[in-house]
Amino acid sequence: MGQTRIQSTQPGQIGVVRCSGSEFVPLFLPPALESSNRCVRVCPRRTLDDPSLATLAYMTNQPFLGIDIGGSGIKGALVDLSVGDFVSDRLRIPTPAKSTPAKVAQVVARIVNSCADQLRPNDPVGITLPAVVTHGRTYLAANIDKSWVGADSEAIFTEKLKRRTIIVNDADAAGLAEARYGAAKDCDGLVMVITLGTGIGSALIYRGVLIPNTELGHLEIDGFDAEKRASANAKTEEDLSYSEYIPRLQRYFSHLEELFWPDLFVVGGGISRSSNKFLPKLRLHAPIVPAVLRNRAGIIGAAYLAAESAK
Ligand code: BGC
Repeated sequence: MGQTRIQSTQPGQIGVVRCSGSEFVPLFLPPALESSNRCVRVCPRRTLDDPSLATLAYMTNQPFLGIDIGGSGIKGALVDLSVGDFVSDRLRIPTPAKSTPAKVAQVVARIVNSCADQLRPNDPVGITLPAVVTHGRTYLAANIDKSWVGADSEAIFTEKLKRRTIIVNDADAAGLAEARYGAAKDCDGLVMVITLGTGIGSALIYRGVLIPNTELGHLEIDGFDAEKRASANAKTEEDLSYSEYIPRLQRYFSHLEELFWPDLFVVGGGISRSSNKFLPKLRLHAPIVPAVLRNRAGIIGAAYLAAESAK
């Protein structure tokens, strides 16, 4: 850890911090905290994307809205990012039968309107989708309506909501939340978060930085798309007992481990509620633990990214 002094340049703008190591870390100071010669402690191991103390303090004062779009429900809540938890009840509206971007955007607008009085006009809303998201566009929509493929989803939501939106893959949002506030918050190495649900989602976080869109549910293993064999949905659809399902999970996680050698696996998705029935049976080098934020993780991660982009 390095004790260091920020010299802020102009009000609300960037100060540059020199850590006790050799790296320079720029800090964004919100107006409330802006003052020169403020002393903070900066951990040299942290990367530039990690939230600075100043950013966290900024997040503390204002809840951000996260919305999680799933196959059966669209859920939203206001999140207090100083603790990583909801400050409002979660609102859930069923996903429209034909879940096109336009129809889903209408539902999302209802959720945003229900708490608009608690949002600042210029703050973005974070939204998850079970799809690859790059530069605001969605691709590879394995378990949602195919009309999302290639759609400029960020622009569609922004126009409908009259508010900036940050779109993120559902597993990436959940993984980031687990890394910041949940099962992996004390792990500073390589964390792999795997969600077992309708499909398999994956998030890779290295020293707090998300490497997005890893899509490891679609690894081909033994000639199969992995999620077709090892998702919670595969267990239900094939009516597998845990003793039949566990070897599939073992094959999947061993393969991931051979490729990535993470320091920690975190397993999310609804089935993680019964994690005691399968996680202790898996034999891996890295520890494997259940997610702790459960079905709040996507919303919290989405709100977190919205706040980060607002700073
Ligand atoms: C999708 C991913 C998604 C995962 C979990 C997969 O089928 O390709 O983008 O994260 O399901 O919803």
